[in-house]
Amino acid sequence: MASNRKVLLLPGDGIGPECLGQARRVIEWFDRRRVVTFEVEEDLVGGAAIDAHGVPLADATLDKAMAADAVLLGAVGGPEWDDLAFEIKPERGLLRLRKEMELFANLRPAICFDALVAASTLKPEVVSGLDIMIVRELTGGVYFGEPRGIEDLPDGTRRGINTQVYTTPEIQRVARVAFELAEKRQNRVCSVEKANVMESGVLWREEVQKLHDAEYPRAELSHMYADNCTMQLVRNPKQFDVIVTDNLFGDMLSDAAAMLTGSLGMLPSASLGAADASGRRKALYEPVHGSAPDIAGKDLANPLACVLSFSMMLRYSFDQGEGADLLDQAVENVLAGGLRTADISQEGTETVSTTAMGDSVLRELDKLAD
Ligand code: IPM
Ligand code: MG
Repeated sequence: MASNRKVLLLPGDGIGPECLGQARRVIEWFDRRRVVTFEVEEDLVGGAAIDAHGVPLADATLDKAMAADAVLLGAVGGPEWDDLAFEIKPERGLLRLRKEMELFANLRPAICFDALVAASTLKPEVVSGLDIMIVRELTGGVYFGEPRGIEDLPDGTRRGINTQVYTTPEIQRVARVAFELAEKRQNRVCSVEKANVMESGVLWREEVQKLHDAEYPRAELSHMYADNCTMQLVRNPKQFDVIVTDNLFGDMLSDAAAMLTGSLGMLPSASLGAADASGRRKALYEPVHGSAPDIAGKDLANPLACVLSFSMMLRYSFDQGEGADLLDQAVENVLAGGLRTADISQEGTETVSTTAMGDSVLRELDKLAD
């Protein structure tokens, strides 16, 4: 049952283009096998868009993203654009995509592949078999709250302001995503806030509890303060199944969780909107890593987070769980075979380029599909 899915690729800056280049080869592999066929288009975001259009996300690009079945983004930002005004920095392109597409649920899995247990800075017994899912609220909270800004005070000093704000529906819709995901896992959800110091945290805790009691009573729900959660993540991360939290805490906790797995270069993410009448969700997939300008263009970067982001696309946008499993297995086999990009290299492994890593993923896919 072949159907054409529209995928928009936004390579962005730094290592984004070279990593997405490898993901594109994987997309073409799946397209050739015609399980799902893809109509792939490419456009600019971040610094690349600033250089071409003067803005980090052109309106026409946003229109394409809105019309696509799924978007795959590389990375944004770099030192070339550091001195630009805040409102037109590369990061604003990404934030605008998230906001305008209403991608309120950000799924950040932290999975430790067996072959990479030694790459983590934590003891092997702490991380081996680790499989947690962080669900980060992505379109609210302090990232977008008003009022915001920097103002001059009469005494000549200045004041910087941001607002942490959440409403009941914003909390409930992201918590719902967490409970639904948990049902397919160990059905344990840990909701994270700072209810001890923030009213928005008190509301968060109450609303998540209410939703649980009303609709997901079978899930095991716990609540944790964000500082404690940070500590627990490095102390005993395997205690968690699904973590649901706000935009800012989710940003920080997901970086910490990422490092448990050995490398940021391995971690994919999915950002999902609400399902429409036909069940279709707007969706953007991106690696958790940034643009890594220091190694950009050198064929050194790890393309696996991008490749695994496409796997999440197969799973969450196209209902192709089998294809996603196949791709995840191909990546696992490549790692088990001892190939590593520089970021995850260890003694006794072979360090390969971005392109060579892509080659071997394709080779594994061919083998597995035979
Ligand atoms: C992330 C990044 C972004 C964020 C930046 C690039 C705006 O750190 O996706 O985690 O803070 O959300
Ligand atoms: Mg971040």
